[in-house]
Amino acid sequence: MNLIQDLDVLDNLDAPKLVPESIGTNGRKLYLETYGCQMNVADSEVVAAVLQEGGYGLTSDPMQADVVLLNTCAIRENAEQKVRQRLGVFRAKKRKENPDLLIGVLGCMAERLRHKLLEEEKLVDLVVGPDAYRDLPRLIGERGLNGQAAVNVQLSKEETYADIAPVRYDSNGISAFVSIMRGCNNMCSFCVVPFTRGRERSRPVNSILAECADLLERGYKEVTVLGQNVNSYHFEQDGTVVSFAELLYRISLLSPELRIRYSTSHPKDCSDDLLYVHAERHNICNYIHLPVQHGNTEMLRRMRRTYSREQYLELVEKAYRIVPNLSLSTDIIAGFCGETEEEHRDTLSLLKQVRYDHAYMFMYSERPGTYAARKYQDDIPEDLKKRRLSEIIDLQTRIAADKNRADVGSLQTILVEGTSKRRIDQLFGRTDANKVVIFDAHNYQPGQYVQVRITGSTSATLLGEPLGVTTLAESVLQVA
Ligand code: 5AD
Ligand code: SF4
Repeated sequence: MNLIQDLDVLDNLDAPKLVPESIGTNGRKLYLETYGCQMNVADSEVVAAVLQEGGYGLTSDPMQADVVLLNTCAIRENAEQKVRQRLGVFRAKKRKENPDLLIGVLGCMAERLRHKLLEEEKLVDLVVGPDAYRDLPRLIGERGLNGQAAVNVQLSKEETYADIAPVRYDSNGISAFVSIMRGCNNMCSFCVVPFTRGRERSRPVNSILAECADLLERGYKEVTVLGQNVNSYHFEQDGTVVSFAELLYRISLLSPELRIRYSTSHPKDCSDDLLYVHAERHNICNYIHLPVQHGNTEMLRRMRRTYSREQYLELVEKAYRIVPNLSLSTDIIAGFCGETEEEHRDTLSLLKQVRYDHAYMFMYSERPGTYAARKYQDDIPEDLKKRRLSEIIDLQTRIAADKNRADVGSLQTILVEGTSKRRIDQLFGRTDANKVVIFDAHNYQPGQYVQVRITGSTSATLLGEPLGVTTLAESVLQVA
């Protein structure tokens, strides 16, 4: 699963996140760049908190930094290549301009590449895995003292960083990520995440509710609840088990004006209870990211997804039936091992059948150590993978454009997030279905819920005419 949407739900390879200046107590400055999914964005906020506590200030200028940390993604090869390029740039800076600069690799690349990065390529001073961020101040101190690279890539069965208040250094103050579980016990054959992030563990309910309540108090309007596999959330408290559906329900009761999203769900664990919670609670968005990965049952078996095409379609049908106005998005992989032309066409036909509002579409990229890498041949030539992926993207773009066109004339409630990138006299916000709407600013402000009538569309964006400020609770009645 992926992060940094628009931040794309999953990939932010072209938009490393920069941090604003802050002053620490030890006079040293940290520069932090984040790649990959939303989970990494949330993790970087934990890293910033740990190091702020350790006395470090934050800087958005790597030239000012004493420590440069790259929070990395290993999900596809191109993600790793991008990080290697950046490491090369920082390494050159260190050689030429600042020999005392410490360069660290955090996150998903850490475990797999620690030998390579430290020994063969001699690119880094610190290598720290996703469960070892509490150890960062000590590791940095150790590296400074003895000149040896400092490493901690130990994965944990318990760590959830539950007690660490994330420093939301790059936040719009309106929308925040809240991490509820870590790791993944699924073993999808193409995926490296279970190896880089370890076993599933759930964060205590009370610490999640406290973090959401604190965000509300500070004026936030929306939380996106995060985990590699949120449907597997499972926490025992006072002898009762709190499921993901129950957790969402409890978060939704904190305030009728707090809008709630989540990512990512595995179709095999999407329970009826969860669908009914969507239907019942107006402030849980009627939007589910439900990655299918492929449209053919034999390919799904080889991908070890544990459902068939038919089972997935039944789930979609049930979800559309239970949750009014539900929007779905998905992830698709093109050109997985052994994929025939006919199997590829099954992905196209599934896209036509489900009619997702949005999809994240990828070419298969073999990841060392995964089941697929060990058992199957990565036998689809690059140009064929590309052709299949572009057919998938073309079709999905047409479907999204049609669905957006169908929204024209409808009333939508959007949470205003900020000024449009193209025109300062326009604002943008998102609908319940996570679609971006651009509209004339008038006197509306970020953080307000605004009722808009949709007046135009493209495959990626809606245009709207604002009708007035509203509340989330009122808007349910108005839209209905
Ligand atoms: N190659 C291509 N895409 C992948 N994903 C995960 N592993 C791979 C891989 N080896 C995609 C899946 C997943 C999303 C986060 O990334 O679609 O849902
Ligand atoms: Fe990877 Fe599958 Fe786990 Fe998602 S559910 S993180 S694709 S192994």
